[in-house]
Amino acid sequence: MVEFMKYRPQDHYFKKAKAEKYPARSVYKLQEADKKYKILRPGQLVLDLGAAPGSWSKYALKKVGPKGLVVGVDLSPVNIKHSRYRFVQKDIFQLSPQELNTIIEKDHFDVVLSDMAPKTTGDRSGDHFRSIALAEKALALAEALLRRGGTFMVKVFEGEAFPDFVKQVKTRLGPVKRFRPRSTRPSSREIFVLVISRQR
Ligand SMILES: C[S@@+](CC[C@H](N)C(=O)[O-])C[C@H]1O[C@@H](n2cnc3c(N)ncnc32)[C@H](O)[C@@H]1O
Repeated sequence: MVEFMKYRPQDHYFKKAKAEKYPARSVYKLQEADKKYKILRPGQLVLDLGAAPGSWSKYALKKVGPKGLVVGVDLSPVNIKHSRYRFVQKDIFQLSPQELNTIIEKDHFDVVLSDMAPKTTGDRSGDHFRSIALAEKALALAEALLRRGGTFMVKVFEGEAFPDFVKQVKTRLGPVKRFRPRSTRPSSREIFVLVISRQR
């Protein structure tokens, strides 16, 4: 009972998400990054990797407006019915850039986001390497699909392979920023790596 009544800072974001009708509190990580780096703008084509249950996609749809398009990908379903939304229920490792090109009928996205995370097991090192594998796949898709100077934002659980991953992103896409949102739980090792659009 005492444990139940303890104040938890994350409750604030959980309740806020519920009140604002977002299916997950993770929306505030994207919102915070967006406020800081101006990631999302009207008319953009956005790829949202690891989209379920759908709060990033919902936020992105609001920002890109009626001339934009958001494509979500996840192993789990996303319940968003919107004329500017497409969803692919698939393992990212089975997904080819061509499949996404067919959906958007264009060669490039303006923004590639990835909030993908492995199911955590308690094995910190294993979870870290599984997170890096997902982030590397997101990077490969971004390299194939992002327009020149587009924006890439990817979540990673920090660990020994993190510096090398950051190096790869720098080499393949350009200068990077590291970003830890305030709404991230203090115990979490997650961090976002961003390559910000050079064309405003
Ligand atoms: C933290 S959740 C994403 C939350 C989402 N950004 C939102 O705001 O609603 C991480 C997601 O990554 C997805 N994921 C993990 N491994 C994946 C894979 N191999 N392929 C596709 N999605 C994957 C999970 O299914 C999960 O829905």
